[in-house]
Amino acid sequence: MRVVDLGAAPGGWTQVIVKRGANRVVGVDLLPVDPVAGAEIIEGDFTDPDMPDRLISLLDGKADLVLSDMAPNTTGHAPTDHMRIIGLAEEALHFAFEILAEGGGFVAKVFQGGSEKAMLETMKQAFSEVRHAKPPASRKDSSELYVVATGFRPERLRQAQATA
Ligand SMILES: C[S@@+](CC[C@H](N)C(=O)[O-])C[C@H]1O[C@@H](n2cnc3c(N)ncnc32)[C@H](O)[C@@H]1O
Repeated sequence: MRVVDLGAAPGGWTQVIVKRGANRVVGVDLLPVDPVAGAEIIEGDFTDPDMPDRLISLLDGKADLVLSDMAPNTTGHAPTDHMRIIGLAEEALHFAFEILAEGGGFVAKVFQGGSEKAMLETMKQAFSEVRHAKPPASRKDSSELYVVATGFRPERLRQAQATA
């Protein structure tokens, strides 16, 4: 499995992905990440224009799974923070469209709050299954949760975009 971990620092998810047996793993973060045996780390912004090509070359092909635990700097103003995290998750989704192989999966952190509806609609067109997940490690009093999409359908996405 080829996996991209967006927002990898300090490296917890990257370590778990390697342990779970993925054979090609690349973590990307603005911040430095201590080396993780079995993974490549890129210190940089995932929105850099050359990032899709760099990742596909390091993975030796398109990704089977793109994970995003990215979080923007929070302001403490809940509606603003919600908008920012959804913006980041949407960017990660469009980034995933560029580097995912057919049948691949996408997981991203969002916050409960409602404005992710448009993103969910796009995801439903692009993937065969989309659901939410709140893992036990995520604090119950936090509005953080994850969207989990599997079965990437690039052809269906192209058709939907062409008729939009
Ligand atoms: C909650 S932390 C990730 C924790 C990580 N999953 C782990 O298990 O150690 C969120 C990370 O997203 C990164 N991030 C935010 N915006 C980013 C961007 N545009 N490009 C790359 N990383 C970004 C931050 O630097 C931060 O380290």
